[in-house]
Amino acid sequence: MSSPHRILVAMGTRPEVIKLAPLVGALRARPDRFQTVVCATAQHRQMLDQALEVFDLEPDVDLDLMAPGQDIFDVTARVLLAMRPVLAEHQPDVVIVQGDTTTAFTVALAAFYARRKVAHVEAGLRSFDKFQPFPEEINRVLASSLTDFHFPPTQGSRANLLKAGYPEKDVLVTGNTVIDALYQSLPRARALGGIAGLTLDPSRRLVLVTGHRRENFGPGVASMCEALADLVRRREDLEIVYPVHLNPNVRGPVHERLGALARMHLIEPLSYLPFLWLMDRAYLLLTDSGGVQEEGPALGKPVLVMREVTERPEAVEVGAAALVGTDRERIVESVERLLDDPAHYRSMATAGSPYGDGKACQRIVEFLEKRLAQPS
Ligand code: UD1
Ligand code: UDP
Repeated sequence: MSSPHRILVAMGTRPEVIKLAPLVGALRARPDRFQTVVCATAQHRQMLDQALEVFDLEPDVDLDLMAPGQDIFDVTARVLLAMRPVLAEHQPDVVIVQGDTTTAFTVALAAFYARRKVAHVEAGLRSFDKFQPFPEEINRVLASSLTDFHFPPTQGSRANLLKAGYPEKDVLVTGNTVIDALYQSLPRARALGGIAGLTLDPSRRLVLVTGHRRENFGPGVASMCEALADLVRRREDLEIVYPVHLNPNVRGPVHERLGALARMHLIEPLSYLPFLWLMDRAYLLLTDSGGVQEEGPALGKPVLVMREVTERPEAVEVGAAALVGTDRERIVESVERLLDDPAHYRSMATAGSPYGDGKACQRIVEFLEKRLAQPS
């Protein structure tokens, strides 16, 4: 039998770990076929480590690149240079990147420069607006152009790739690996039964909030905070939990504007299992995060998306999610409608989950095995 294919899996941020850890597990379950190296750029440090720990994943290479307050120029330049010796040393047959972060795009670029094949997990998502999300929309367009094997999660993302001219034989719809992670982790999350240091009132409905998009920095974050403040002031029947992202552009304004309010729990970013527990416990999710838009429908939780456009239209199309932007009144109205209109709540909560069946990683592994066996 031929020697195993050398695969390098690159991850930089919290969501990349969550979405790639099940794939690393599936590849490593086949040591006869794949020799898998995990490379962390550590574009995120603490949030990456928090996620790695949940999956018991230790990077083989850790570039430790995060600097406090970094911008996208810093991350792009540092990842590109740091990847040169890593690719030279490991000579992977395929480099796997995930999603639309600067790590994903830049590692794909480095792999191309080193003439390595690139596989892109969560390929083909498009908002068709260059600046929303920023810089992720262009990161994923660029990643696609560097990619040999595209793994779109849905038929819609596949169609985006085919329309852009990528050959059908190189594109496989897999479902989103986030659903693999969710199904694998939910029993452990549910067994937690609560979160240390967070006391929730069972008589109040829980709104779980996350937010970190760059295009919302400044006025968007301010307006979102005003909406959250209005909600806890007006509604005795709800409480809000907001695990605040470590980006200083989010942290500063959020703590300043919301720190002193009753029934507003501003907490540190949660490890994935407690976060899953909290999503499962929540009445609704208010977010600009990509991953939460995928997880919410799978858990039967309505998702209000604090963005004007989304590259994840499927949840909106089935009725599990709604776009509410960052306008203060629109957010308040949308949350109150879900609190006060049981039929509306039910229709969103039962709309279904369009992002996969938990077998995305298996499909990716089978595809790679087949394609890498063919002469290139
Ligand atoms: C990044 C990704 C975004 C992804 C998000 C997931 C880019 C351009 N952005 O955004 O696509 O949705 O991660 O959360 O790739 N920080 C820490 N510790 C951490 C993580 C962040 O202190 O563990 C702080 C640091 O000051 C860091 C800053 O946050 O410099 C920004 O981190 P960065 O990865 O550049 O951007 P994010 O906003 O986290
Ligand atoms: N998440 C987490 N802890 C938190 C908030 C989110 O583990 O405190 C998880 C969430 O379940 C999802 C992922 O992190 O899988 C989303 O990450 P993020 O919102 O940072 O990035 P995005 O998905 O927008 O790229």
